[in-house]
Amino acid sequence: MINQSLWYKNAVFYEISVRAFKDSNGDGKGDLCGLTEKLDYLQTLGVDCVWIMPIYPSPLRDDGYDIADYYSVDSAYGSLDQLKGMIEAAHQRGIRIIMDLVLNHTSDEHRWFQASRSDRNSPYRDYYVWSDTDQKYKDTRIIFLDTEPSNWTWDEKTGQYYWHRFYASQPDLNFDNPKVQEEMLNVARFWLDLGIDGFRADAVPYLIEREGTNCENLPETHEYLKKLRAFMEEHYPGRILLCEANQYPEDVRPYFGDGDEFHMGFHFPIMPRIYMALKKGRYEDMAEIMRRTPSIPENCQWCTFLRNHDELTLEMVTEEERQWMWKEYAPEPRMKLNLGIRRRLAPLLDNDRRKIEIANSILFTLPGSPIIYYGDEIGMGDNIDLPDRNGVRTPMQWDDSPNAGFSTGKPFSELVQGELGYQNVNVASQINDPDSLFRAIKRMISIRKTHTAFSGSSMEWIETGNPAVSAYLREHDGDAVVVFQNLSDAVQVAQIPANFQKTVLDLFTDHSFSLGTSLELRPYSYLWLQV
Ligand code: GLC
Repeated sequence: MINQSLWYKNAVFYEISVRAFKDSNGDGKGDLCGLTEKLDYLQTLGVDCVWIMPIYPSPLRDDGYDIADYYSVDSAYGSLDQLKGMIEAAHQRGIRIIMDLVLNHTSDEHRWFQASRSDRNSPYRDYYVWSDTDQKYKDTRIIFLDTEPSNWTWDEKTGQYYWHRFYASQPDLNFDNPKVQEEMLNVARFWLDLGIDGFRADAVPYLIEREGTNCENLPETHEYLKKLRAFMEEHYPGRILLCEANQYPEDVRPYFGDGDEFHMGFHFPIMPRIYMALKKGRYEDMAEIMRRTPSIPENCQWCTFLRNHDELTLEMVTEEERQWMWKEYAPEPRMKLNLGIRRRLAPLLDNDRRKIEIANSILFTLPGSPIIYYGDEIGMGDNIDLPDRNGVRTPMQWDDSPNAGFSTGKPFSELVQGELGYQNVNVASQINDPDSLFRAIKRMISIRKTHTAFSGSSMEWIETGNPAVSAYLREHDGDAVVVFQNLSDAVQVAQIPANFQKTVLDLFTDHSFSLGTSLELRPYSYLWLQV
């Protein structure tokens, strides 16, 4: 059994846009009561921890990542009491809840920024990063490349530029100011006191700026994050910090510190390489990045994912690989966004059930705790007619009734139409169908949970003599599972090394058989074998 305080090391996470999940009052927007109604569904799937995207008051220029008030819930989603009720109901089902902690920036409508920009002498002036010139920090890349010409925006009234790593409507807080540091600890305290189980900390590489650097991953940034962790360790042990640092593994590694910074960090670079593997029918890109992934402290864990609420980011691949990914996965220009692809899992994988399943097989067998993006467990579609990343944040498809069972009112967003729309893809039709994608994923989750092999960090690649067949051994605490995956659309034969030529148990069929010198695998098939 895994130590309870290390619960996150082998948990299944699930990411939710509250607005898009379930509307309980017919106003067309999902809310906390709606989410509460659907906790049984999440429990059925086998979810251990839900990450809810921002529900704070916000002008929604970045879908809530532009926060106007850190201390309340936007009334569209409900009240603080309803949030508490949702958390309690989740805890009764053994489900934990984490929320976004957006440290790096606020909305330009936040009262701190309003005060800051009202007057150069405002006590809040120094809460943000101001400059007389837009020539500072020249080595810093622009993240929202499609819309932002610069990380500086001119403020007419006070005659200076302010710094922002994302939209101009999201001014960066000044983490060199001890008051800002303190304010954000207070924010964390507020939500932890309310009962949440931790935070997905947004955009953490960018907290501090220094001339002559790229203003990412700076030592002073780590210093602050360690303070945040120490504060949580002291007052809220067992609650977690999950790091969003879209960086190469060696640059994410410092965010784990000596086990005294983040509990978890997203593994960004493995994600696009899973898609590369499936398109090329070769596993080498996956193996290369996993080999390049440094080991992390015992009390830490990676968080792996196939998709999330953002574009499928191609920041962590080479320029050549990026062009190739765009060519293969974003044939239409409007499918691209910034350095990524704004599409969901099922459409990316041609709605091919075999590809969707094998991608999930990879997700659930890699080292790390997996996170599912809401709706991907049923293979729901996207709507690329919607701007920005809204096309992958459409209402959850619960059933085939007029508003997809999401709302009795007019939904806040257009629904997905066509092959992957709610008429064809929905929870109601899948939940009791033993052959559905939902059931296949539920089964993977339940097998994963009963095998401690998956909770460790070890992963040993097995040479199959066939570049299309990835094979690896996961071993932990006396439990050992070998995973074979045929990444190609043709039948493949894998050579079996002598030390694996023995009796194995197929975890999906419960049949034992003897592994011989070779193994034939159907296109896109996967095997999880206990050895
Ligand atoms: C993170 C979020 C993204 C948001 C950005 C700015 O990358 O995932 O949705 O736009 O931070 O807050």
